[in-house]
Amino acid sequence: MKMYRVVEIERIRQEARNVKTFRFADDSSPLPGQFYMIWIPGVDEFPMSISYTGALKGFTVKKIGRGTSRMHDLEPGDKIWIRGPYGRGFHIDKRRKSLVVGGGSGMATLGPLIEEIKGDVIIAARTKEELIFTERFSHLNPWIATDDGSAGFKGYATDLARKLVEEREYDIIYACGPEQMIKGLVDLAFERDIDIQVSLERLMKCGIGICDSCSINGYRVCVDGPVFFKEELKNMDELGKVRRGWSGKREVVR
Ligand SMILES: Cc1cc2nc3c(=O)[nH]c(=O)nc-3n(C[C@H](O)[C@H](O)[C@H](O)COP(=O)(O)OP(=O)(O)OC[C@H]3O[C@@H](n4cnc5c(N)ncnc54)[C@H](O)[C@@H]3O)c2cc1C
Ligand code: FES
Repeated sequence: MKMYRVVEIERIRQEARNVKTFRFADDSSPLPGQFYMIWIPGVDEFPMSISYTGALKGFTVKKIGRGTSRMHDLEPGDKIWIRGPYGRGFHIDKRRKSLVVGGGSGMATLGPLIEEIKGDVIIAARTKEELIFTERFSHLNPWIATDDGSAGFKGYATDLARKLVEEREYDIIYACGPEQMIKGLVDLAFERDIDIQVSLERLMKCGIGICDSCSINGYRVCVDGPVFFKEELKNMDELGKVRRGWSGKREVVR
């Protein structure tokens, strides 16, 4: 399933401010945490995690730049080109007590994982209008955190995670979201001796391990990740600090 194929958008749902989910039929079999490259001819090609597995798959896309803005203009019946699934997904052990932390559009990546493990979930965003999948996972009573306090806990996802970790015992944290949030959770996991798996984002050109645009501490996020394990995160000192820009030059992560 690594060749380009055309899929037709069947349904579109507005999830949050600037975030839409696009559902399409495709017979690939992605694992939670894997991603695809989406190509919109004449516009851009970009990586996107699978947010719904099963027969009617989904991408949940935040409008950022050229490619994702064009994607947001699509309507049911329109077509996109995809290749994948790519990368290493989450390693799931349903017996372990899990805390899943999704920040902003990072929740998109975690959707299929949460459906499988059904652990404790934190859905976080800067403000109420940017929360994703609160309805989808309402049956799990997720904790909500917003930076501005417009819904749920007022503060960062990392602050709420720290509180929960202190009150309850977890075997593992799974996370995806802004890199500063991920860095905070990795530090927390080492401090409290909890296992952790995180999904990382880097600029991707090829998605298949050739161009090196996605490198972090010698790992290529597209093939060695995007999900990384605790032993790999231990010495990842570029996390939350450095990434490659479009020219290949190293730049500061914000
Ligand atoms: C493995 C992986 C999975 C992803 N899954 C999702 C997802 O499920 N939902 C979602 O909304 N987004 C996801 N992203 C991010 C998404 O790929 C980018 O938002 C998209 O590439 C932006 O493309 P664009 O053409 O709209 O923006 P561009 O016009 O190419 O860029 C706009 C701005 O965004 C920055 N940018 C672009 N791509 C990235 C990136 N990968 N990391 C950090 N900054 C970037 C650029 O430097 C620029 O400043 C994922 C990224 C990766 C690597
Ligand atoms: S995107 Fe080209 S090596 Fe990862």
